[in-house]
Amino acid sequence: MKILFYDTKKYDRDSFEKMLPQFPEVEMDFLEADLSVYTARLAKGYDGVCAFVSSDVGGNVLHALSDSGVKLVLMRCAGFNNVDIDAAKEYGITVLRVPGYSPEAVAEHAMALALAVNRRIHKGYIKVRENNFSLVGLTGVNFFQKTAGIVGTGKIGAAMCRICRGFGMRVIAYDMYQNPDLDFVEYVDFDTLLAESDLISLHCPLTEDNYHMINTETIEKMKDEVILVNTSRGALIKTEDLIAGIRNKKFFAVGLDVYEEETNNVFENREDDILEHSITARLLSFPNVIVTSHQGFLTEEALASISQTTLQNAMDYKSGQMKEMNLVTVQ
Ligand code: NAI
Repeated sequence: MKILFYDTKKYDRDSFEKMLPQFPEVEMDFLEADLSVYTARLAKGYDGVCAFVSSDVGGNVLHALSDSGVKLVLMRCAGFNNVDIDAAKEYGITVLRVPGYSPEAVAEHAMALALAVNRRIHKGYIKVRENNFSLVGLTGVNFFQKTAGIVGTGKIGAAMCRICRGFGMRVIAYDMYQNPDLDFVEYVDFDTLLAESDLISLHCPLTEDNYHMINTETIEKMKDEVILVNTSRGALIKTEDLIAGIRNKKFFAVGLDVYEEETNNVFENREDDILEHSITARLLSFPNVIVTSHQGFLTEEALASISQTTLQNAMDYKSGQMKEMNLVTVQ
């Protein structure tokens, strides 16, 4: 099986190469360039291509892949909103994905953001490097005996609930479905979660129904001095309203691994660019906000799990025994 990887970063290549001994039938080549109508032609002679969250797997690209004789797209991620499923069916291309890899990786990053921004680690780190050992501006709050409000208690939210319990927090949650594994969690309606939580962490997928679920109206329902963390999807929060809330001193701290308009920034070094949106700069101007670049998933364990499942998907395709939950389209 010859697979051509697109949009490869060093950590992708390292984790896939480490996994290769387990898959002796697979041959891999890596491109830094992402998938596009132009680069799709490079896949001629390969059995499949491997793409990522920000790759263009739209109709034109699938057409170009099909013209090059490629019938398999391996997504090395859970999401597939960038895949034109109808076009894949039309061109007879099977698309497989990695539905879950390490929920703890994302949940631990959510807690890392919450702790870092609460205890002003981002400021303390810079200050000490400048020989400034003053503690002014670094006061945080205890999490012990506070209330954590978890929105969405699927795989990642459940891991976050367990972490918060470990900190001695009362854990409340809002989800349409109650997770039976979380007997220590009190399910409440969304308004109660907003009103009672000291720490709110978002762990639900972005859908039409919850687009901008955090907005001026819902921010007003929150406790004063609340800490808000988002490791899910940027558009769950209406950023303009969040910025207004931060200016009005509603938030003690905000930690964001995802934010609206992140698309051009994610995973890229843009230090010489003039950014097209002012949102990132405005968020970064606040002393009580930390932004990371969609790195919640980035642990050794998660990368190993992604590469293992992706290469297994390739072998399952070859043997015709693909796992139902990994299939985006089947021919
Ligand atoms: P999951 O499918 O296991 O759980 C999602 C839960 O959210 C389900 O229980 C569902 O009922 C609930 N839900 C759906 N709509 C809701 C709403 N409007 N309000 C409250 N709950 C709602 O998903 P998983 O694996 O836990 O992932 C959650 C999200 O984390 C993903 O959708 C993705 O956006 C994000 N994510 C972020 C990563 C990062 O690197 N920052 C990496 C992987 C996922």
